[in-house]
Amino acid sequence: MFLGLDLGTSGLRASLIDDAGQILASAEATYAVSHLHPGWSEQNPDDWIAACADTISSLRQTHGTQFAALKGIGLSGQMHGATVIGADDRPLRPCILWNDTRAHAEAAMLDAAPDVRRLSGNIVFPGFTAPKLLWLKTHEPQVFAATAKVLLPKDYLRLWLTGAHVSDMSDAAGTAWLDVGARAWSDTLLDAGQMRRDQMPDLVEGCASSGQLRPALAAEWGVSPDVIVVGGGGDNAAAACGVGTLNEGDGFISLGTSGVLLAAKNSFAPAPETAVHSFCHAIPNTWYQMGVILAATDGLNWLSKMTGQSPADMAAALPDQIDGPAAVRFLPYLSGERTPHNDSAIRGSFTGLDIGTERTDLTRAVMEGVSFALRDSLEALKSTGTDLRRVLAIGGGAQSAFWVETLATLLNLPVDLPEQGDFGAALGAARLAMVGVTGAAPSDIMTPPPVARTIAPRADLTDRYETAYQAFRNSYPAIKAIQ
Ligand code: XUL
Repeated sequence: MFLGLDLGTSGLRASLIDDAGQILASAEATYAVSHLHPGWSEQNPDDWIAACADTISSLRQTHGTQFAALKGIGLSGQMHGATVIGADDRPLRPCILWNDTRAHAEAAMLDAAPDVRRLSGNIVFPGFTAPKLLWLKTHEPQVFAATAKVLLPKDYLRLWLTGAHVSDMSDAAGTAWLDVGARAWSDTLLDAGQMRRDQMPDLVEGCASSGQLRPALAAEWGVSPDVIVVGGGGDNAAAACGVGTLNEGDGFISLGTSGVLLAAKNSFAPAPETAVHSFCHAIPNTWYQMGVILAATDGLNWLSKMTGQSPADMAAALPDQIDGPAAVRFLPYLSGERTPHNDSAIRGSFTGLDIGTERTDLTRAVMEGVSFALRDSLEALKSTGTDLRRVLAIGGGAQSAFWVETLATLLNLPVDLPEQGDFGAALGAARLAMVGVTGAAPSDIMTPPPVARTIAPRADLTDRYETAYQAFRNSYPAIKAIQ
């Protein structure tokens, strides 16, 4: 038995898989995000631990015998968060999350520093970890001075599980302190970020052991004290392990809180000028590229708060098939944008509202706006030479046939939908544990899910969506000019 723990933005998901790699059970517990000021996004690290303990206790209640045979745990998590801890291993303040853009000035400063893009392989986006520490240095100097270690969210969970300060390559790649090509902390990048090596956790590959479960936890959970916790991965790398996106040519779209278009790479091929992200994969000697948009289902969640109707009900009110782009247009920049604009100040907008506009028109506009933005990401990936022939769609938004057909048509790519089930980051994390414990080849374990159906681009409508996409592209500079 193997356990995958995915520490997401809205909750923690635990999946138990058997020795054949099948998911036996999953449990989830949620927690809140606080937005104290515009652009701020924080979470209390102790809420993650409480959520983890909750999911473990529900798995033990429903699958006690199987859980007792646990051999390994893999971790996945929201990337880039700065969890700063003191010498006593306690958080010094709430974690500053991936979608927090307060450190935009520090990010721009680091981004312009010599060698930073070359070594880190990426633009230093405001959501990355390094600029947050520079922000703390100025605004919370006592916290900065007391920082003994900086941990990514899932690595704080690891500290609770094992007592060790360790991260993995794929998550560390999102800090702007890692030499992403060499898969090692970089003294040049640490100096630029005014950090010290002793403040960094140790690094392991995603399927290597990072330590054993603490004896007290092993006893409490009724499992062997030999249970190991492997490095795991940032959520996008772990999701790639969950859906078998390992080799050049493989790609997926994730319609989660954020939206991601990810392509696996057999070599490190950074292209920061395109605002494409280039990170280490959770598999040794492998990398990936991705375009990231900050609000995907988050756009629908926001509209749901406005309308009082659940996202699922709003999606269900749309037809299964598309019939041409909507008159109302939505720019999905609720939290600023990364790919392709690297603009933390831009905000969203609706245009084309009419006296007859209804709630369904707004839902549709949100889904289209997110799809246009993912088309921007596809264009950015293409400009680096990446060639995707089809993609798999995962995440909550992939439940909507309307949304997926919009995407297929706008990307002009067939979109595969996995059979019902859990193919996300928690499965990927559990698979990393399985590889770590058994020594199996990653490609034998990290197979793609069975495809339930493929949604093809609507050839009869591509011209109309193409025209609408060009209008979407023109909207960004126009809206920027009036904000
Ligand atoms: C990736 C990113 C998000 C988070 C949250 O760069 O910021 O996808 O990992 O899921």
